[in-house]
Amino acid sequence: MHIGDLDFGDHLPLALAPLAGYTDYAFRRVCRRYGVDLTVSEMVSADGLTLARRSSKGWRKTLALLDADEADRPFAAQLFGKEPARLAEACRIVQSEARVELIDLNAGCPVRKVVASGHGVALMRDPPLLGRILAAMRAATTLPLTVKLRAGAEAVNVVECARVAEQAGVDAIIVHPRLRGQMFAGKADWSLIGAVKAAVRAPVIGNGDVRSGEDAARLVRETGCDGVMIGRGAVGRPWIFAAARAALAGREWTPPDRREQFEALRLHLATLAAYKGEAVAVREMRKFALQTVRGMHGAAQARQSIATAPDAATLLAITERVLLE
Ligand SMILES: Cc1cc2nc3c(=O)[nH]c(=O)nc-3n(C[C@H](O)[C@H](O)[C@H](O)COP(=O)(O)O)c2cc1C
Repeated sequence: MHIGDLDFGDHLPLALAPLAGYTDYAFRRVCRRYGVDLTVSEMVSADGLTLARRSSKGWRKTLALLDADEADRPFAAQLFGKEPARLAEACRIVQSEARVELIDLNAGCPVRKVVASGHGVALMRDPPLLGRILAAMRAATTLPLTVKLRAGAEAVNVVECARVAEQAGVDAIIVHPRLRGQMFAGKADWSLIGAVKAAVRAPVIGNGDVRSGEDAARLVRETGCDGVMIGRGAVGRPWIFAAARAALAGREWTPPDRREQFEALRLHLATLAAYKGEAVAVREMRKFALQTVRGMHGAAQARQSIATAPDAATLLAITERVLLE
């Protein structure tokens, strides 16, 4: 399986979905331990890269979303924007100033503020514009290029948008088959992933509601997709990539024991603290810890203390108690 010149060998690539506020440097590194093949940055504003003065504090902060270490490869930058020339310029900046192996266009974000300014899934309302943007990006970068689509904005038109994207020269198409109004609720309609797969020659990466290794295998079986992207299912449970790999190969798989689960959380916290400082790390890690303990005995009672843990030692102690007692 190839995405442009990125070669994933003979196995089906597993990707970590871009999740703003989650898929930073530290979380991506933890997912690498469990075999994820491709990671994507949080979404990066093309305006932020092109309008801010180069080397200004704001510009450097935007670019820092693309920090990734050696173990976190291949790594994709996800851009959002709405003007072809600006997205093209953003591609040139990313290719020269950051180190990434792929560029993705966000044409799926349903958040009100993003859509109101014409970004994210709003691009699917205007397939010709989507095509012009992708063609401009294609001409501006030699890196592999992908687009991440939803089912559509108000009406389903993902097959049309996928064809337009392929025509513009993208190397793969990512499909999260929900309409804008569904946000992240209801069920993703996997049949639309199959419909895109049948309509284009480019590789198709399926996304939406994969919460277990078996889900990943079923998504591939039901749609014929060439890769699987997992978002929420990895939060607090990054071993889902190992589970998916085993399920796709038809192998038995034993989940990590509670001690290893705790160690993964501790490593995540330590990596984040080294990168962003303890105060920020603790604030950001609470939501991961809540997901790790979800459904376990004592998790409901510990919820409030996890959500308000003031420092790293407290957060780890509470989580360890739920996991290991
Ligand atoms: C908190 C959150 C943040 C997200 N941020 C982004 C984003 O920055 N870019 C993007 O393309 N999709 C974003 N998504 C959508 C996910 O990438 C993914 O398509 C969606 O969650 C469905 O996959 P899942 O069921 O595996 O989570 C976000 C989703 C959530 C829940």
